[in-house]
Amino acid sequence: MNDSSHARVRPRGCRATAHSNIALAKYWGKRDTERNLPDVPSLSLTLAGLSTISSVRFAPDARADQVELNGEPAEPGTLAKVSALLDRVRAEAGITWRAEVSSSNDFPTASGLASSASGFAALALAALGAAGLSRPNAVVSALARASSVSAARSVFGGFVTLEAGAEHAEPLDTGTRAAQLEMVIAVTQTTPKKVGSTQGMLRTQHTSPYYEGWRTSAPRIYSELRQALLAGHLETVGEAMEQSALNMHASMFAASPPLVYLSPATLAVMQCVQELRAAGTFAYFTMDAGPHVKVLTLPEHAASVRRAIETIPGVLRVIMSGVGAAARVLGDA
Ligand code: PMV
Repeated sequence: MNDSSHARVRPRGCRATAHSNIALAKYWGKRDTERNLPDVPSLSLTLAGLSTISSVRFAPDARADQVELNGEPAEPGTLAKVSALLDRVRAEAGITWRAEVSSSNDFPTASGLASSASGFAALALAALGAAGLSRPNAVVSALARASSVSAARSVFGGFVTLEAGAEHAEPLDTGTRAAQLEMVIAVTQTTPKKVGSTQGMLRTQHTSPYYEGWRTSAPRIYSELRQALLAGHLETVGEAMEQSALNMHASMFAASPPLVYLSPATLAVMQCVQELRAAGTFAYFTMDAGPHVKVLTLPEHAASVRRAIETIPGVLRVIMSGVGAAARVLGDA
């Protein structure tokens, strides 16, 4: 044990927050499983309306890492992932102390609402802070990415890109038109998903005959979406976003055993979005590894999108969100 390193540890711990993000151009598939590097580029929107607060305190007297999620002890799988991130921070800081971690989300956990994204981004920031380390955002993003690829993007606010094979995400400066975009989220389930995203994407990569089609189409959709976003061509952004989600889900459907994350309520919301659009409303859908539907819209259409989807059977709750800020330290834990 190195006492001088332990001396840097923040005795009262560190509390940090991060927002979730929704990929407009999706990541699905790993280039390097060991290092957890993405096989395709992705582009996301950080969401103000969905966030996690995490606290980390390194304790000289603790015998093992203790992790609490939404007030409950974490399951063994989650505990192992959190300890792996803490181990990286301990190695970097030259410390050995175990940690007390608590994390809470203001939205349903592990159901396809990207709780791992905000969770690991907040944890990375809080753990570095608690260890007395101050690191640039790119390093925080790489640390979060090693635990969950999408978490790399939640370190930044606004629109964020993560290139194929990249270690860390980068913010994308899009200008004012894109910054008005909003998400209306139809929550259609509150229980955790049956197949987690890592397991799901490895199954898709190894068994789906359409994975190759996804892998080759994803970079093209990503570039088109990125260009449209920079040019303020928001209809093209919406079209590319739908294409990305549908191509990804098509590759999942064809996995063996098949991965069907969508439910009847998902399809009903997708259909409603198409009808809204036909009637002149700016509305486009996307879905991740879960049945919720995230509808991209503009402030002047957000209330009518909400009204249209909240009465659909199977829609349990609607969350509205504008563009969120970067992850940040809140203070002592
Ligand atoms: O990095 P993970 O394990 O949270 O995987 C995220 C996968 C998707 O949400 C489906 C797509 C994405 O880019 O966020």
